[in-house]
Amino acid sequence: ERLKAMEKPLLSWYKNHARVLPWRENPEPYRVWISEIMLQQTRVEAVKPYFERFMAALPDTAALAAVPEDRLFKLWEGLGYYNRARNLKKAAGVVMEQYGGVIPASWEALKTLPGIGSYTAGAIASIAYGIPVPAVDGNVLRVISRVTGSREDILKQSVKKQMEDLLLGVMPKEGAGSYNQALIEIGAIVCVPNGEPLCGECPMASVCVARRDCLTKEIPVKTPK
Ligand code: ADE
Repeated sequence: ERLKAMEKPLLSWYKNHARVLPWRENPEPYRVWISEIMLQQTRVEAVKPYFERFMAALPDTAALAAVPEDRLFKLWEGLGYYNRARNLKKAAGVVMEQYGGVIPASWEALKTLPGIGSYTAGAIASIAYGIPVPAVDGNVLRVISRVTGSREDILKQSVKKQMEDLLLGVMPKEGAGSYNQALIEIGAIVCVPNGEPLCGECPMASVCVARRDCLTKEIPVKTPK
């Protein structure tokens, strides 16, 4: 169907258009984890220097687990949402104590760690370990809603869950990390939220319902609570 048809164009677009980003060059689990936490509430360009500095100061889970809070907060200063930093350290402690210092390679185990929800668990599992699980954030909700023409309210937890189940069923078994990052990338630079999405650049334009029916202003639906 529609979502299966978009897979090949999406992956080949990603190969040619993916931005070169520090955490993509060497997607080991620790780097993917830290980058995804930083990217949760902060833009890519702003994250880059913080990410490099963080990696230089705290190159692995053991260093993170052992860092004094004041030093950690200095590294985080300017990123905001300090609970992210607190949870990182907490999770690093759990990884050291319960997983022998190895970041777990399963979506379920990742999701039990402090600060790691469904999206981040999916991102780490797929990008770092190649496990075929979806990573559905606001970008992906918007992209898939438009492609499928869904008028469901993307702010609803149940709609996010449906989208995760849908993607789990259609995503490729190989190249899961690229697939997820391709959807995130399309959402960030092509299928943008307001105004005009750049459908001329989109590899999924030919299968996209919102484009066909001129609904990119109406979809995604977000009903204020
Ligand atoms: N935003 C969230 N995750 C990202 C990633 N892996 N690459 C670029 N932007 C992102």
